[in-house]
Amino acid sequence: MSSLWQGEVVANSPVGPGIYHLRLRVALPGALPGQFVHLRCGSSLDPLLRRPLSIHDYNPAGQEVQLLYQVVGRGTAWLAGRKPGDFIDGLGPLGRGFTLPAGPRVALVAGGLGLAPLFFLARVAAAEGCQVTFYVGARSREGLLRLEALEGLGLEVQRATDDGSAGFAGPVTSLLARDLEYKRYDQIFACGPRAMLAEVARLAGQKGIPAEVSLEERMACGLGACRGCVVALYGEDGSIAYENVCSAGPVFPAEKIVW
Ligand SMILES: Cc1cc2nc3c(=O)[nH]c(=O)nc-3n(C[C@H](O)[C@H](O)[C@H](O)COP(=O)(O)OP(=O)(O)OC[C@H]3O[C@@H](n4cnc5c(N)ncnc54)[C@H](O)[C@@H]3O)c2cc1C
Ligand code: FES
Repeated sequence: MSSLWQGEVVANSPVGPGIYHLRLRVALPGALPGQFVHLRCGSSLDPLLRRPLSIHDYNPAGQEVQLLYQVVGRGTAWLAGRKPGDFIDGLGPLGRGFTLPAGPRVALVAGGLGLAPLFFLARVAAAEGCQVTFYVGARSREGLLRLEALEGLGLEVQRATDDGSAGFAGPVTSLLARDLEYKRYDQIFACGPRAMLAEVARLAGQKGIPAEVSLEERMACGLGACRGCVVALYGEDGSIAYENVCSAGPVFPAEKIVW
């Protein structure tokens, strides 16, 4: 169930160029990987709209939510200025998360900040006994974030960079395609730029592997009321219907999306 809350900033530190890791003390009972929170990013009514950020991790025992965000505009710039002891007004957990698991061998594919929700999923999947391969892609080595934390989860971590400065040289989807030639996964989960997700959907479809992807749309209410975040999806009979990413998603089966 979603609720309004005030989270206390425990830490808010840069982990990459313009990218911050925020730890908030707040209870979010029932928070699941793939869900998001909607934060008020200002101390007045300006900016008016809340900003959606994926839950990067959640520890119910310690009542701590983690977020990973990039400074792109006014809201996230305000967020980057928050210090330990400050309070942030939030709403959530919101949306529908990932479905775990169709089988024990899972591949997670993150493009850039797509790492944000997949980290939480990786931790939960590993704790449930899944064999997780985490593919992380970025433009260059500086964009490969939180690698130590990922490796600390005891997973297989595969890196790809567009400029070849670390790991596989090329898009992360080419690395996935290479592995799919000889590796079998029961399920694939992905988050990242839309073109990357479309390619993951194509590869998964080709191999007959169920896949889920997390979509990003500009959001106003975050609650399914304004219809500002609709996306085109195939219905059961192949017809096209429009659903809200904030309430029906942000995670959808890859084959349902009209790419
Ligand atoms: C479900 C979901 C999860 C997200 N998770 C993350 C995350 O974990 N880390 C992260 O860095 N970013 C994430 N984003 C993108 C993030 O919400 C935007 O970067 C942020 O809202 C920009 O706010 P701003 O005020 O700094 O930028 P501005 O460009 O000034 O924002 C203006 C308006 O556009 C909206 N907006 C701008 N960019 C986006 C975008 N890409 N997606 C949705 N709304 C946008 C804002 O909410 C705001 O209403 C997520 C988006 C969605 C929809
Ligand atoms: S943001 Fe309002 S319906 Fe999704």
